[in-house]
Amino acid sequence: MPTPQSAIIPDHCRASIVMEAAITDSDLGKLAAACRAALTSLQALQDKFPNEQLGLTIGFGVDLWAKIAKDGEGSQLKPFRPLGGGLAPATQADLLFHIQSLRPDVNFKLGSEVVAAFAGLASIERETHGFRYIEDRGLEGFVDGTENPQGENINSVAVINDGVDAGGSYVMVQKYRHDLPKWDKMSISEQEACIGRSKTDNIEFDKADRLPDSHLGRTNLKEDGKTLEIVRRSLPYGTVTGEHGLLFIAYAARLWNIEAQLLSMFGETDGKTDLLLKNVTTAMTGAYYFAPSLERLSQLDA
Ligand code: HEM
Repeated sequence: MPTPQSAIIPDHCRASIVMEAAITDSDLGKLAAACRAALTSLQALQDKFPNEQLGLTIGFGVDLWAKIAKDGEGSQLKPFRPLGGGLAPATQADLLFHIQSLRPDVNFKLGSEVVAAFAGLASIERETHGFRYIEDRGLEGFVDGTENPQGENINSVAVINDGVDAGGSYVMVQKYRHDLPKWDKMSISEQEACIGRSKTDNIEFDKADRLPDSHLGRTNLKEDGKTLEIVRRSLPYGTVTGEHGLLFIAYAARLWNIEAQLLSMFGETDGKTDLLLKNVTTAMTGAYYFAPSLERLSQLDA
């Protein structure tokens, strides 16, 4: 089985960097060489810091992937489109670099080397650094990641397990900006109703007690009796006095699992909008990428 890229499976990392870039030279040979150089840097840093769970995902937006793909590879990929009448903006780029590990300093070193590898080929449009917050909470104060798949399920939910794309994964990135003064004016029970879980002890509310427009009401979706699962690797980002929020990033073997949740959150299925979007957070960016297997990434020009 081909190998998934290394920032997908490891859970509980403490720091991340997400960079999105526009391609300035789409020569496939140069692009393939840049990916190999980035993977060489990754390997050297993994060897030097073997306990830090350092991982890198390189993802491709639909326009760039169309120039690379053979035999229908990554065929579910599409451009991110604005949702909810502009509530979710589309900021589709060509390349995604997702770095995560237990150490921001090691991430920074890898980020610098990745950018150097793509010098002259890609221009970075956005760069955000995420950090693990107290007790795995988001800045809005709720524990985030509890219902993420665990153990072997991570692989089966996040990674395509057969066919031409085996070892690959679809990725969605969205940067959310929080309005914490607004959120903090609400009572704890009002906040809990928005999420569908209790705040301090993180207990899930019974389905019967959950508002249909709570975050769980919008994202805990079933299709043909099966839950539409995704693997989230989001972390909080930002500064105390400036912009801050959640750097949302999710992986899935099927793009639809992510898209269905987005459509439901942004009022595109039944007109109901996620209460988080009304009360605490605003989507600032949105893009889809395809992350091919490690083997395919190291042979893009094969
Ligand atoms: C600022 C934006 C967001 C915040 C603050 C947020 C926060 C949370 C929190 C606190 C939970 C409950 C604990 C857990 O299971 O992790 C949760 C669950 C979840 N979120 Fe989000 N989330 C955000 C955006 C999103 C987006 C954009 C998606 C998908 C497109 C998503 C998908 C999910 C899923 C699938 C669950 C688990 C639902 C379940 O089965 O119980 N979230 N989120």
